[in-house]
Amino acid sequence: MNCILVTGGAGFIGANFVHYWLREHPGDFVLVLDAVTYAGNLSSLSDVRNNPDFKFVHGDICNRELVAYLLREHNINIIVNFAAESHVDRSITGPDAFIRTNIQGTQSLLEAARDVWLASTKPPETCRFHHVSTDEVYGSLGPDDPPFTETTPYAPNSPYSASKAASDHLVRAYHHTYGLDVTTSNCSNNYGPYQFPEKLIPLCIINILHGRPLPIYGDGMNIRDWLYVEDHCRGIDLVIRRGKSGGVYNIGGCNEWTNIDIVNLVCDTVDQMFRSDPKLQDSFPDSPPASGSFSKELITFVDDRPGHDRRYAINPEKSEKELGYRPETAFEQGIRQTVNWYLENTGWWQDIINGTYRDWISTHYGM
Ligand code: NAD
Ligand code: TYD
Repeated sequence: MNCILVTGGAGFIGANFVHYWLREHPGDFVLVLDAVTYAGNLSSLSDVRNNPDFKFVHGDICNRELVAYLLREHNINIIVNFAAESHVDRSITGPDAFIRTNIQGTQSLLEAARDVWLASTKPPETCRFHHVSTDEVYGSLGPDDPPFTETTPYAPNSPYSASKAASDHLVRAYHHTYGLDVTTSNCSNNYGPYQFPEKLIPLCIINILHGRPLPIYGDGMNIRDWLYVEDHCRGIDLVIRRGKSGGVYNIGGCNEWTNIDIVNLVCDTVDQMFRSDPKLQDSFPDSPPASGSFSKELITFVDDRPGHDRRYAINPEKSEKELGYRPETAFEQGIRQTVNWYLENTGWWQDIINGTYRDWISTHYGM
C-alpha cells in the first residue's frame, strides 16, 4: 500500500490525478496539499472528500516544516509535485509568484523529502519523488525541427518555463548529490475536465456559450502537441511505478495542432451539440448556434503574446519503450468529452466566473 502526497491536487491536472489514482489504486492513501490559489478549486475534489482513503490539507509547499510533518505523520512514500503557477500570460505580467512557488516551493519539498526519507532512522521501504514538468522548458521548435527528446537542451523562453526549468534542475541535483529517488516527466499541453477557464480550450468553450469573442493571439499558427489529461495521469502513474530513479520521461500526444485549427474544432463541436440537443438553446441563448449562426463568427485575432513560442512537440519514444506508455484518447473524441463535461458541469465554472467560489469554500470547508 502506498501513501502518496499530491501537491497542487486542487488544480486541473492534480484533481484529475487524484480521481485517477483512487480509482486505479484502491487501498492507497492520497493526501492532497494545496494552497488553493486562484487556480485551485476544492469543488474539483468534492466527490472524493468523504472517501476514507483521501485527505485534504490547506497549505503551501514553501512551508517546509508543514511538508516534513505531513511526510512523517502519514508515512508518505510517494510525492507527486503538481503545485505550481502554471499560466504563461500571468508569468509575463507578474513573474514573482512563479519564482516563489515553482522554484523555492520545489526546493522546499525536496528538502523535506531529504530530511524525512534520507536522514531518518526509520524511512519507508521505498520512496519516490515525482516532479511534474512541461515541454516548455525545451523552448520553441521551427517548423521542420524534430520533436523534443529527453536530451534536447533546455532553452526556456517565458518566466513560467524558466521557473519550471530551474525546478527540474533542482530535482536532478537532489538525486545526483544526495541520492534522493526522483523521477521527472515533461509533458505537452493538457486539456480535459476541471481546467481553469483562462487556458485556451475551456476559455473558448465558455466564451462560445456566452457569445463572447474567441481571442486568437497573433496569426493563430502557433503549434502545441495536445494530450487528454487522463492520458497524462496514466503516463505519470507508469513513470512512478516503472521509471528508473533519476529518470526523465517525455509524455506527449503525438498530436500537433495550430491554435486556429483547435478553435475551429471546438466551435464545430459546440455547434453540433446544439443541433443534437435543442435544450441548449434555452440554457445559452447568447451562443451563436442558439440562433442558427456559427460559433466561428466569434473568432477574433488579437495582439500576440510577447515572446510567444511558435511550436512545441514531444517525442515520447523513451516512455513508450521503457514504460509501455501510449496516448489513448483521439483528439476529436477528447474535445467532445471536454465540451460535454463543461456543458454538464456549468456550476463548476459559473462559480469561478461569478466570483462566488470563495463563499462556497468558506461554507463547505470553513476556510
Ligand atoms: P493549475 O494552475 O491548474 O493548478 C496548480 C495548483 O497548484 C492549484 O490547485 C494551486 O492552488 C496549487 N498551488 C499553487 N501554488 C501553490 C503553493 N505555493 N503551495 C501549494 N499549492 C499551490 O496547474 P495545472 O495545469 O494542473 O498544472 C499542474 C502541473 O503540471 C504544473 O506543475 C504544470 O507546470 C505542469 N504541466 C501543466 C500542463 C498543462 O497543460 N496544464 C502541461 C505540462 C505540465
Ligand atoms: P495556453 O492554454 O495558455 O497554454 P500554453 O501557453 O502553456 O501553451 O495557450 C495555448 C496556446 O493558445 C498558446 O499558443 C497561446 C494561445 N492562446 C490564444 O491564442 N488565445 C488565448 O486566449 C489563450 C489563453 C491562449
